[in-house]
Amino acid sequence: MTSSGGTPPADDNKGRRRFLETALGTGLLGLTAAIIYPTWRFVFPSKNVRVAEQAVSAGFVDDYPPNSGTLFRFGEEAALLIRTPEGEFRAFLGTCTHLGCNVEYRADMALIWCACHDGRFDLTGKNIMGPPPRPLQSLTVQIREDEILVSRST
Ligand code: FES
Repeated sequence: MTSSGGTPPADDNKGRRRFLETALGTGLLGLTAAIIYPTWRFVFPSKNVRVAEQAVSAGFVDDYPPNSGTLFRFGEEAALLIRTPEGEFRAFLGTCTHLGCNVEYRADMALIWCACHDGRFDLTGKNIMGPPPRPLQSLTVQIREDEILVSRST
C-alpha cells in the first residue's frame, strides 16, 4: 500500500541526512582551510618573501646600457631596475601607485611609464603626470663585483 503524503520512508530520511552531513562536513572543511592557510603563510612565509627582504640579484652592470631598464622578480613582486642616461642605477617596486599595473622604463621619454592610464614618474620615482597619487616605492641598489643587488630600503 502506498501513501501520497505524510512521513517519508526511513530510507529517504537516511539519504537526506547523509547528504546534509556531507554538505556540512565539506563546508566546515573549507572554512577550516580558509582560516588555517593564511595563518600558516603568515607564520611561515614562503622563501620568495624572505628573499625579497634580503638582496636580490638583478643581473650585471654590462646587461644595462645607459638609458635602459627592465622589470625583474623581487620575491613575489615585480621590481623595475633602471640605468639613467647618466649611467646611475635605480630600482623601484614595479607596481603603479594608481591601480597596481606594472610600470616600465621608456627610453624614448627617459621616464617611468604606466601603460594602464598613461601615468608617469620621473627617474627618482616621483609621480609627475596622470592619475598615480604617490611616488613609486624606491629600493636600494648596490653593486658588488659588477653584480647588481637590490634590496628594500631601510
Ligand atoms: S594603474 Fe598606473 S596609471 Fe592607472
